[in-house]
Amino acid sequence: MSNNKTGFGTRTGFALAAAGSAIGLGNLWGFPYKVSANGGSAYLFVYIACILLLGAVAMTAEFSLGRFGRANTVSTFKKLSPKLGWAGLLAVLIPFLIMCYYYVLGGFSLKFALNSFAGNKGNFHSFAGNYGDVILHSFLFAFIAFIIVAAGVRKGIERTAKILMPTVIFFLILIAMVSLTLGEGVSEGIAYYLRPDFSQLNASSVLSAMGQAFFSLSLGCGVMIAYGSYSGEKVSITGATAAVCIIDVVITFLMGFAVFPAVFHYSAVTGISLSELGLGSFGLMFVTMSMVFEDIPYIGNIISLLFFSMAAIAAVTSVISLLEVVTQFIIQRYRVFRSRAALFISLICFLLSIPVAFSLGSSLNGTETVSLFGHNLFEYLDITTNTLLMPLCALMSCVAASKLIKRGGALSRGYFPVMVKFITPALIIVIEIFGIIDLIAPGGSFSAGGCGIVVTALVLVALCIAVYFGFFEKQRTGCNEDELKIDAEEAVRRKTGLPRGWSRPESEGEHEKR
Ligand code: PHE
Repeated sequence: MSNNKTGFGTRTGFALAAAGSAIGLGNLWGFPYKVSANGGSAYLFVYIACILLLGAVAMTAEFSLGRFGRANTVSTFKKLSPKLGWAGLLAVLIPFLIMCYYYVLGGFSLKFALNSFAGNKGNFHSFAGNYGDVILHSFLFAFIAFIIVAAGVRKGIERTAKILMPTVIFFLILIAMVSLTLGEGVSEGIAYYLRPDFSQLNASSVLSAMGQAFFSLSLGCGVMIAYGSYSGEKVSITGATAAVCIIDVVITFLMGFAVFPAVFHYSAVTGISLSELGLGSFGLMFVTMSMVFEDIPYIGNIISLLFFSMAAIAAVTSVISLLEVVTQFIIQRYRVFRSRAALFISLICFLLSIPVAFSLGSSLNGTETVSLFGHNLFEYLDITTNTLLMPLCALMSCVAASKLIKRGGALSRGYFPVMVKFITPALIIVIEIFGIIDLIAPGGSFSAGGCGIVVTALVLVALCIAVYFGFFEKQRTGCNEDELKIDAEEAVRRKTGLPRGWSRPESEGEHEKR
């Protein structure tokens, strides 16, 4: 299918890899507690509307950009307009920052999966405070992601997605089936989830749903541009977008059935109130679900294993997409072999994840040591990327994609031109503005911490602009074709037994000369 040998080999492989990126802890961990906090299915409706109005359009835009650029994100933006190249650099920085905290969350899921038979009940805080353990599991998680990305897009990412995505779906269906057949309390759980309470919806829940839709679809961080760049001509961009959005919504919807009936059942049989169980809180997946599983007779440990393995697997297929964006840029800009580039980035992000693990663990245990602007480092990175940088990057993708419309393709058909030029950017700007207001003045009173986060985001954007115009604008930043040459050179080196090292292809790609 692909004329690029480094790219995806099949359409299904491409769609599954993109879906693998989209389905992750955002759907499994974030969505259930946000639904609880925002009026049950009322939030689900808003979330689905956001996916249709914003997500599908932005994803089509990002895939199209990737298809057009056939290169890392910096080169892709630059190819459309040299002035926009900084947005491509922002699209490399964001996944880098996300990885630093996603490793910790992935490490938690892995630990909980491995610990299922010993029982996870009541262990969340002690585990979070056991830094050696957290770091070890984050390392394992990072190492798995490294191995997959180092193997390449087709042999690593695509192959893994083809096996792991169906596994996630299968596990989730099994867990939902068990949850729905627990008996007492189940129907209350279903009613709670499906009966919309629109009175609980307010501006901030709508914003939360928009942010959730973006994060959940892995938009605004270069992932879909990078994956799009490796897709063959035969892949239908609109078809792939529809497939990813549908899988994402279905998994998210099913997750509600895996969680709420089981939690309501547990509350009914133990008499512990729902608010005590932390239904709408951060700990729903790790704290509450561990208690719920422990209480299921005979198969509780197995269900726990399935549940946390599913979370760890979904986290792996997401984190590899983040690692791929940065790896692609490093390979192509610096002419480094894939495995070296991936190793280098994985190591840096892993080292940076250590203070994040300390900060999160100490804040969960009430002994806050490392914090920035009043937030532990986990929250700090999460808010800076999710609330501020990702919407900006998605906006820039829409701006860049508007320039693509004249060239035809998926973006020039139907309502897309109007959506991508006006409606989606307008909605993204609204998210961004309200996000900023909510940070600076939550509930109307000024917050210095929130201001600090806004300033951080501004500094990071300024840094991307300065570094881009200072170092990358006038220099070649490479393309996928270069990667093929580097791969070919490595194959020769391996055959001839030459030492491995930095690769310098003799000729530059025809694809991008400037
Ligand atoms: N979409 C992933 C999730 O829902 C997170 C993610 C965001 C992955 C951005 C890649 C890029 O967990």
